[in-house]
Amino acid sequence: MADTTASKNQKYFNEQASSYDTKHEKTINQLIAHIQKRKDFIGAQWVVDDSDDEPTTEADGSHKPSVDKDSVRFLDYACGTGLVTRCVGIDISENMVASYNARAENQGLEKEEMYAYQGNLLNKNDPNPASLSDATFFNFDVAAVGLGAHHFEDPDFAVRQITARLRPGGVFFILDFLPHEPFDGHQHKAVHTVTHHGFSEERVRDMFTRAGVGKGFELQDLGSGVVFAGMGKDGSDMKRRPSFNRKNT
Ligand SMILES: C[S@@+](CC[C@H](N)C(=O)[O-])C[C@H]1O[C@@H](n2cnc3c(N)ncnc32)[C@H](O)[C@@H]1O
Repeated sequence: MADTTASKNQKYFNEQASSYDTKHEKTINQLIAHIQKRKDFIGAQWVVDDSDDEPTTEADGSHKPSVDKDSVRFLDYACGTGLVTRCVGIDISENMVASYNARAENQGLEKEEMYAYQGNLLNKNDPNPASLSDATFFNFDVAAVGLGAHHFEDPDFAVRQITARLRPGGVFFILDFLPHEPFDGHQHKAVHTVTHHGFSEERVRDMFTRAGVGKGFELQDLGSGVVFAGMGKDGSDMKRRPSFNRKNT
C-alpha cells in the first residue's frame, strides 16, 4: 500500500490496538461522561430514559447507553476499540476492529447491537467500497466521529462521505479538539498519523455547510481539557481541549 495518511493510520493503530484501552481508558471515560451528559444535545428522541433501562457501567468501566434498538441506527466512523459508542463501527485498522468486536462479545451484545467492520470511506479512488455497500451501511439516524477527524487527510471529504450514510434528518456529531499547537511529542510515532491540529468552530461549521448539511449546527466547548498520558514531549502528558459539534441533516 502507498504511504498515505490512511496507511500510516492503519499501521499505527494496528500496533496500538492491544494497549489502546489500557493506555487511554481514563481519558476516554472522561469524554464518555461528556457525551452522556449531552444526550439532549445529540438528539434526545433516540435515548430511552426509562428508569428500568438506565445506562449501565460495565465491569470494564465502559458504559452501555440505553438506546431504543428498534428505532435507532448509529454509525461510529473511526470507531477504534469501541470506547465511545455501541453500534455499527467502521475503522481502517483491522486490529482496532477486532478489539471493538471482542468488547461487544465480552458484553454479550448481539451483532445487531454492536459490531465493527474494517474499511475506509475516505479513499477518493474508491469512495464507495463494495464491502461497505449493503443496507447495513446506510440510513443511519446518528453518525459520530470520535477523535478521528484530526487523523483524516481531508476532513471535508469525510463529512460528505459520512453524511451520505445518514437518513434525511439524521444527526452527525464530531468529537475532536479545538485548535492547538502542533503535536509536541515529535519523537512519538503518532505524529505521522495526525493531519490537523484541532478545528475551530468556524472550520467545522464550514465543513458541514459545504457538505450541504449545515442546518442546526452547534458547538459545545467541553472545558478545560483532557489529558493523554505520556503522549507529549519526551513522554510527558499532553493536554487537549475537546469540543463537541453537532448538526442535523
Ligand atoms: C484516536 S483513534 C479514536 C478511536 C475511537 N473513536 C475512540 O474515541 O477511542 C482514531 C481512529 O481513527 C481510525 N482511522 C484513521 N483514519 C481512518 C480512515 N480513513 N477511515 C476509518 N478509520 C480511520 C484509526 O484506525 C483509529 O482507530
